[in-house]
Amino acid sequence: MKKSVVLIFLFILTFVACKHLPSLTPHGPNDPPVGGAPCNADTVYFQNDILPIFQSSCAKSGCHNAASHREGIILTDYNNIISTGEIRGGDPSHGNIYSTITSSSSSDIMPPPPDAPLTADQIAKILKWIEQGALNNYCDGGCDTVDVKYSLQVKTLLANKCIGCHNTASTGGGISLDNYSGASSVAIDGRLIGSVSHATGYIQMPQGGSKLSACEIKIFQLWLDAGAPNN
Ligand code: HEC
Repeated sequence: MKKSVVLIFLFILTFVACKHLPSLTPHGPNDPPVGGAPCNADTVYFQNDILPIFQSSCAKSGCHNAASHREGIILTDYNNIISTGEIRGGDPSHGNIYSTITSSSSSDIMPPPPDAPLTADQIAKILKWIEQGALNNYCDGGCDTVDVKYSLQVKTLLANKCIGCHNTASTGGGISLDNYSGASSVAIDGRLIGSVSHATGYIQMPQGGSKLSACEIKIFQLWLDAGAPNN
């Protein structure tokens, strides 16, 4: 009798203790993003650095967005990316995503031709993010609107969030944003601000992605207010 009481007690204790143990997979596909501290230069952040690459280069219409889901693969957000089972934190050799973006074979590489492959910088970021655990993290990027220049803030923002769909090979809506003349012409005709601020009458950009932050929109606005110079 006494023994069984002890056993029951132990059982309850184990159950209670287990419930308070941290989850073994700290970032399951459905867990919300963690972070908010100022960005650390040695860390790659999923929400800031990695998701824009997937959204502009992979989750396009006809490829890996929810409607097209080529080969069943949807790459629109953390949940879908991790749920493919093709990425495992700490192990870049696991799964097909890292191997296809770095493939040397034109029939295997993603994004496939005529789209340009990811840049060396984008690939390096994805590698580091996987090595650092493939977490759903974000940081406060301290978006810099002081002395806005095309060659600095504007070009970086376009590179991070737009040129996967708007480059010379793959021109969404006939617009290429990987060069000054393409970017300045849509700035000056009003479509750049109209589309990123989701103004009525414009197609909302980035297509299929989350709306730019107020500070990011301000970067484009300040550049336009200055006459969209090539500075
Ligand atoms: C996932 C692909 C994708 C991404 C990412 C994307 N675009 Fe687009 N964009 C398109 C496509 C496709 C069109 C043409 C849509 C149409 O004509 O229906 C387009 C159209 C536009 C237009 C014309 C809008 C209009 O109302 O005429 C502008 C301006 C534009 N994009 C700017 C941007 C900017 C700036 C970004 C980054 C912040 C961006 N896009 C990110 C695919 C994308």
